[in-house]
Amino acid sequence: MKQDMIVILDLGSTENTTVARAIRSLGVYSEIYPHDMTASELKALPNAKGIILNGGPNNVVDGMQIDVLEELYGCGLPILSIAHNGKAEQMMDKLPEDEASLCDALKPFVFDICKAEANWNMKNFIADQIELVRRQVGDRKVLLALSGGVDSSVVAALLLKAIGEQLTCVHVNHGLLRKGEPEQVVSVFRNQLNANLVYVDASERFLSKLADVADPEQKRKIIGAEFIRVFEEEARKLEGIDFLAQGTIYPDIVESGTKTAKMVKSHHNVGGLPEDLKFELVEPLRQLFKDEVRACGVELGLPAEMVYRQPFPGPGLGVRCLGAITRDRLEAVRESDAILREEFHIAGLDKKVWQYFTVVPDFKSVGVRDSARCFEYPVIIRAVNTIDAMTATIETIDWPVLQKITNRILKEVKGVNRVCYDLSPKPTATIEWE
Ligand code: XMP
Repeated sequence: MKQDMIVILDLGSTENTTVARAIRSLGVYSEIYPHDMTASELKALPNAKGIILNGGPNNVVDGMQIDVLEELYGCGLPILSIAHNGKAEQMMDKLPEDEASLCDALKPFVFDICKAEANWNMKNFIADQIELVRRQVGDRKVLLALSGGVDSSVVAALLLKAIGEQLTCVHVNHGLLRKGEPEQVVSVFRNQLNANLVYVDASERFLSKLADVADPEQKRKIIGAEFIRVFEEEARKLEGIDFLAQGTIYPDIVESGTKTAKMVKSHHNVGGLPEDLKFELVEPLRQLFKDEVRACGVELGLPAEMVYRQPFPGPGLGVRCLGAITRDRLEAVRESDAILREEFHIAGLDKKVWQYFTVVPDFKSVGVRDSARCFEYPVIIRAVNTIDAMTATIETIDWPVLQKITNRILKEVKGVNRVCYDLSPKPTATIEWE
């Protein structure tokens, strides 16, 4: 392994990932572990150069005082304590407010005391992962559900470098993807990167299962369950697969907050696949934050529009075609979304706005078309900015841009006679309509 590492022990801090990111931004790899890590667990990390005890208020979690194991103090590695009053070689009472000064504050510990080398970068990460995956998989075969989202695409590109033909990707088109998405997956992975790609067009199957289902939760359940069923059927057709690759990333693994004992989540991995389809997991991105996953994708040569995609929900356009999904309204969502994305790109808004999409509700209103009354659907435009998707603000879009998008939708999208812009922040509205 090429990378030095600083180990962060979580003593109830809510800032674990902030500290990990600050150290990584210095070019030094860092991982978070539970406070009760043992000396032998630490020894299993030969590249560890130092430890940070990252404490919360008085290190009290769920009413209990917690501390690290005594044996860690004798492990020979430098220890830095943040907001913690234990036996530490260095003390730091309070974290600086912003991430930039936090980096600065950690520099003397990381470089002068731990003598860590700034060798954490995507080239080294990819080289290490290729070696690890080859060691784990040997000459056996790996299966990956390739949705075309950032994480699964980066996993696919990385595994293709590591094990090439031993990887089989399955792309399930559930009929609720955005315009051009399934084609892009096929073009990038099958045609450009020569991946073994099984493309399953299951659109009809999903649409018939969803017919007349109006309840949003029920729609989500059907899409999720059907997805697993289709994937399972494809997996059974393939012979001799021992591994399932997943795009698990670091925030999936580390729970923020103070639940130190439960820090490593139980894996949701095999995602409901039946018992007799048992796979060992390959998760090469499990150490990366989202921006690092994107950087990894860029380094692997994936197209920018794939790597910098805006977030897109698993149930896809199904949550934006409100009520029971009908083909005409689904097409109206897909076509209006494509127009919105095209025009946002032209206006440079795609780099500025976190998430933008269209919604088609399940009611009509009166309009006029070709001098006659028409009874057609509205399209609602939503464009929001957020940091963590917990709250969101509305992007101010220039009037001429909105007018151009409106005109195009009214002209090009069948069955639509009105365009509205949603001005509601979250809260009270959520980002999606559902
Ligand atoms: P809401 O509507 O709850 O959405 O404000 C917050 C963010 O989550 C996205 N979202 C999903 N992402 N699978 C996902 O990966 C899903 O099922 C899902 N549902 C909502 C939504 O697009 C928004 O960015």
